Amino acid sequence: MALRERTATDAVVQARERYVAAGVATPPLVVARAEGARLEDVDGRTYIDFAGGLGCQNAGHGLPTAVAAIHEQVDRYLHQCFMVGMYEPYVEVCRRLAELSPCRGDDQKSILLNSGAEAVENAVKIARVATGRPGVVVFDRSFHGRTLLAMTMTSKVVPYKRGFGPFAPEVYRAPAPYPYRGVSTDDAMHGLEALFKSEVDPEAVACVVLEPVQGEGGFIPMPRDFPPRLRELCDRHGILYVDDEVQSGVGRTGPLWAMEHYGVEPDLLVSGKSLGGGLPLAGVTGRSEVVDSVGPGGLGGTFGGNPVACAAAVAVLDEVVTDSFQRRARELGERIQQALESLAERIGAVGEVRGLGPMQALELVEDRATKVPAGELASATAAAARERGLVLLSCGLYGNVIRILVPLVIGDEDLQRGLELLEESLVEASSASA
Ligand SMILES: Cc1ncc(COP(=O)(O)O)c(C=O)c1O
Repeated sequence: MALRERTATDAVVQARERYVAAGVATPPLVVARAEGARLEDVDGRTYIDFAGGLGCQNAGHGLPTAVAAIHEQVDRYLHQCFMVGMYEPYVEVCRRLAELSPCRGDDQKSILLNSGAEAVENAVKIARVATGRPGVVVFDRSFHGRTLLAMTMTSKVVPYKRGFGPFAPEVYRAPAPYPYRGVSTDDAMHGLEALFKSEVDPEAVACVVLEPVQGEGGFIPMPRDFPPRLRELCDRHGILYVDDEVQSGVGRTGPLWAMEHYGVEPDLLVSGKSLGGGLPLAGVTGRSEVVDSVGPGGLGGTFGGNPVACAAAVAVLDEVVTDSFQRRARELGERIQQALESLAERIGAVGEVRGLGPMQALELVEDRATKVPAGELASATAAAARERGLVLLSCGLYGNVIRILVPLVIGDEDLQRGLELLEESLVEASSASA
């Protein structure tokens, strides 16, 4: 058998195995360049990107206005630490977040952080001080990050929690609606009421934290009536509603925030991922009465709201709120949904097509009647897709959901080709597993 030549990818993969912690899961893809919704690897192979750096490139790899703002900022200064010397880009991001916030109140303020997990933790800190209560209510299948409190709030044991305890106290989990698997809004509301009877006094709960579309948990959009009913329950008990839009925000579902689909005003918004246009940036936004309950020095961090990331974020937010961006996002959402529904007619392993706007997914099952999750099929599909030149991600408690996080600047031809590659990969993986 002829020996395959060692590629540039092989060299990096080998070095990665030697020097990088095994705990970071990596596919054998080594990126050399990226633009829009396309990647090129170190061996010159090109890929259509349906992953967008895990939802961080909603406005496309290398959004020109963000790249220009980054270059300009790099030439001025890189880092000050906002607690040492203030700078305008930080204030500008907070100004835009205030103007664009879905939250209750007309005097919004923000703190900027480095990651979604850090922002989630800061939202909880703020909620606890604002209410004087310790409890945090989260939901089945939620993902809020990997730091201690955020990991405690996250709901998947392997790989996120096993061996990492003890976990943070005062975190309580309630059912979340999941219509495909028989959990309705009523069931979830009853679950919350039961939690308040059996586990925690609602008067001791600072906040509930909910993703409007559960991301890592399986791309499960909350039914239309769940956020309003949760809002009403929060108001009844003086609980703050924290809207975790780290994955669903910054245009991912069409409008700037997924919560706009529901017409509900949360108390605190957590943003991240695409906010920095590819640089690490996250935020917590809410009315001043809540956010300013924490005194000076209680919030912060060395790098949070780095000036270069903030310069990029101003450009990203300016882009994502334009009519043209949002129109295109809606159009992409419709096309992706139609394509996935038509694929589901041909492939029996698709249990459900679901999503909100262009945040769409396929839940794969071994059998439509039993709905047994087909996790291996999803990972085999992603591997087959990579071989064909499509970057695809799975998600879900059982890893059996194929999710689409395509940069929302993709052209029609690439979208069409990407969807064809997805189908071919699913067919190949299904026949291999049959
Ligand atoms: C909804 C949600 N919240 C929080 C996080 C954590 O963000 P980060 O990985 O930036 O810490 C994520 C990451 O996927 C997320 O999807």
